[in-house]
Amino acid sequence: MNQKEYWNKRFNDEGIIWTFNPCKSALIAKDKFIDLGINSILIPGAGYGRNAKLFVDSGFTVIGIEISERAIEIAEENSVNIKYYHGSILDMPFDSEKYDSIFCFNVLHLFLKEERKVVIDKFRNQLKEHGYGFIVVMSELEESFGKGEEIEPNTNESRIGKPIHYFTDSDLREHFKEFQIIESGIIEEPESHGGEHVHRCRYIMIKNSTGSQHSV
Ligand SMILES: C[S@@+](CC[C@H](N)C(=O)[O-])C[C@H]1O[C@@H](n2cnc3c(N)ncnc32)[C@H](O)[C@@H]1O
Repeated sequence: MNQKEYWNKRFNDEGIIWTFNPCKSALIAKDKFIDLGINSILIPGAGYGRNAKLFVDSGFTVIGIEISERAIEIAEENSVNIKYYHGSILDMPFDSEKYDSIFCFNVLHLFLKEERKVVIDKFRNQLKEHGYGFIVVMSELEESFGKGEEIEPNTNESRIGKPIHYFTDSDLREHFKEFQIIESGIIEEPESHGGEHVHRCRYIMIKNSTGSQHSV
C-alpha cells in the first residue's frame, strides 16, 4: 500500500482520527507566529484541517497540501475554510507563492532519508526570505522507537509500507542545518484514538536565512 492509499484508508475507516481540536504544537506555533507578525502559513500534510482551522480562526491565511482526497473531503464537509492542493509534498510547489511560514506536524518522519532532503529543500523554496518554519516530528523517545524492521538508521517499519524516522535533537538540527535554527525541543502530544496515549514529539523552529544566529 502506498502513502496515498494508506492515508485514504485511515481517513475512510477512522474519520476525524485526532478530533477537530488542534494539537498542542499548533497552539504553540500560533502564538509565536502572531508575535512575529506572520500572515500566511503553508501546511504540508494538512490532513482534514484541524490545525488549519485554528490558524484560520486566528486570522492567518492558510494553504494546505494533502495527499489524501478523503482528508480534503472531510475538511470540506466540516467547513474548514482553506485552499488545498491535492498532491504529494514531494511534488511541491503547486503555486509560485512564497509563504511567511510553514507549519508541518507529524509528516516529515514518514519519509526516507533521500526524500526528507527533497522535502526540506522544497520547504526552503516555498518560504520567503526570513520566513519561519515550525516542524514537528516523532522523536527517539517514542515508545515505538526500535520496533519493527530497521530499514535505515533510526527508521523503523512497524507496518509494511509505513516507515517512521525517529529524530534525535542533533539529527533534526542536522536536517535543517541550511536554515537559521531558532529553537528545538520536545512537545508532549496527548491523543485519544485507540486509547489514551502521549506522543513525545520533537519540534524545530527555523528561519530561512543563513545570517547570524540571533534569536527572535
Ligand atoms: C500523521 S498525519 C498528520 C495530519 C495533520 N498534520 C494533523 O496533524 O492533523 C500525516 C498526514 O500527512 C499526509 N501525507 C502523507 N504523505 C504525504 C505526502 N507525500 N504528501 C502530502 N501529504 C502527505 C497524510 O495524508 C496525513 O494527512
